[in-house]
Amino acid sequence: MNTLKEKFDKAGQGHVFKYFDTLDNPQQDALLGQLESVDLDELNHLNETLVFAKNADAGIDFAKLTPAPYIPLPADKTTDAKWQEAKKVGEAAIKAGKVAAFVVAGGQGTRLGFNAPKGLYKVTPVKQKSLFQVFAEKILSASRKYGVRIPWIVMTSHINNDATVAFFEENNFFGLDKNDVIFFKQGLMPAVDLNGKIILESKGKIAMTPDGHGGCLRGMVRSGAVAELKKRGIECVSYFQVDNPLVDIIDPYFVGFHLMGKSDMSSKMIAKAYPLEKVGHFCMLDGKLTVVEYSDLPAEYQEQTDENGKLKFIAGSVAIHILDVAFIERLGSSTNAADRLPFHRANKKIPFVDENGNQQKPEKPNGVKFEMFVFDALPMAKNPVIIEGFRGDEFSPVKNAEGLDSPLTCKNHQKAQWARWFAAAGVNVDTDKNAVPSIDIEVSPLFASNQTDFVEAWNKLDPKPAVKNGLYLA
Ligand code: UD1
Repeated sequence: MNTLKEKFDKAGQGHVFKYFDTLDNPQQDALLGQLESVDLDELNHLNETLVFAKNADAGIDFAKLTPAPYIPLPADKTTDAKWQEAKKVGEAAIKAGKVAAFVVAGGQGTRLGFNAPKGLYKVTPVKQKSLFQVFAEKILSASRKYGVRIPWIVMTSHINNDATVAFFEENNFFGLDKNDVIFFKQGLMPAVDLNGKIILESKGKIAMTPDGHGGCLRGMVRSGAVAELKKRGIECVSYFQVDNPLVDIIDPYFVGFHLMGKSDMSSKMIAKAYPLEKVGHFCMLDGKLTVVEYSDLPAEYQEQTDENGKLKFIAGSVAIHILDVAFIERLGSSTNAADRLPFHRANKKIPFVDENGNQQKPEKPNGVKFEMFVFDALPMAKNPVIIEGFRGDEFSPVKNAEGLDSPLTCKNHQKAQWARWFAAAGVNVDTDKNAVPSIDIEVSPLFASNQTDFVEAWNKLDPKPAVKNGLYLA
C-alpha cells in the first residue's frame, strides 16, 4: 500500500487516499485493486495532451482532407463480374470457418433513454424482437446457410455485462450454441476533473469509465478472445455496433473484397442521406485513410459539393468493418505508441465526493472521460478497403428516442426493406410515399436475410400466407 501511495503522491494524485483510513478492510482492498489497475504514466500523458493542452481538440488541417476512394455499388451486384468474384472469395472463407461476428455493446445508450443494455431494446415491428435476438438469428441463419460454426464475440462493459449475459441465458442464446458466444468486458479508464485529478466517485472508489469501442482491440487480446479465435482458425471478424438491426453481419461480398485487397481492416461506406448527417466521414489525410467525426468536421466541409453538385465528402462511416485477427492482435498488444489507438477526450457529468465527503451529482460536465475509437485503426492498417453499401439493406440505427435514427424510423426501414423483397418476388405490398408499408410485416432472418434468398424461400412456400397486417415469416 505504501509504495502505491507513494506512486500516486508522486504523480500528483495522492488525494485518492484522502478517505482511506475511514474505510473498512474490504473497501480498502477494493480501492487498492482499482488503483493498481491505473497506468499513471499513461494518465499523465493524457492529461498533458488532452486535458491541459490548449487546442487539444484541433490538430486536423481540414484544407488537406480529400475524399477517400471506395468501391462503388454496381447497378446490380448479383451480376457484376467484380462483385461476383468477391462474393465467391468471401463465401469460400466463410464456409472454411475463417470468419467470426463481433458486436461492440459496451455503450450506455444514454441518448435513447433506455435503462438496460441497449441490445435488449425491442426493435422489430411484429414480434418485438430485441437487437440481440435479431443479430443472433442473422448469425444462426448464416451458420445454417454456409454449414459452419460462426463464433460471435460480444463486447460488454463492467456496467452492463451481467445483465447482457443473463439475457442471453434466459433466452437460450436465441438458438445459438452457447459455446459459440464469447463475451468479454472492455477495459476501464480513470476519469479526471478539469484539472487532471482522478475523480473520487465515493470515499472508497475512483471514477472509472469504459475505454471506448476502440478499447475492443486491447480488450480482445487481454480477455483471451483473440487466442480463442486463433485456436478456432478464425482469420477475420465482422465488426458492427449494437444499434443497427439492418446490418448484414456475414456479408460474402464484403469479406471477399477485404481478402482480395489483402487488407488489415476494411470498412463499409454509405452515401450520406443529407449533408449534416451525424456520421463519421471517410477522408484521406497525408496519404492515410482516416475517419473524421461529424462533430470535428466543420459544416462547410460537410456541405461541400463537387462540380456536379454531388457532396464532396459523401462517404459516411456506418461503423461496419472487417478486421484481421492478426491486426487486432498486433495493435491490441502493442506497447509502442505508434501502433496504439490514440485517446479522445469527452467532457462528462461524473458523480463525485466533495471535500466534506458528501456525494454529489453535477448538473454540468465536471470531468473528462478518455475513449478510443476503433476507426482510428484505419490509418495504421495495410491496404484498407472501403466498399459502398446500400442504406436500405444495411443501416438504420436506433440512437434517439424520437426523430431521426429512432425506434420508429428503424421499424419503418425494416418494413420498407421487406416490402422491396416482396416486390422482387412479385408480391405488391401497399406503401406510402416513403416506400414504407402501411401494415406491419416482419421477416425473420431465419426465413431469409437478403432479397435473393427471400425470393427463393417465398417461391418455395406452398401454400403462401396472405400478406396482411401482422404477417410474420419465419
Ligand atoms: C458512431 C460513430 C460514427 C458512426 C456512427 C454510425 C463514434 C465516435 N462515432 O457514432 O462515426 O458514423 O456510429 O452509427 O463511434 N461502445 C462500446 N463501448 C464504449 C462506447 C461505445 O462498446 O465505451 C459501442 C456502443 O455500444 C455502440 C457503438 O460503440 O454499439 C457506438 O457508440 P456510440 O457512442 O453510440 O456512437 P455514435 O456517436 O452513435
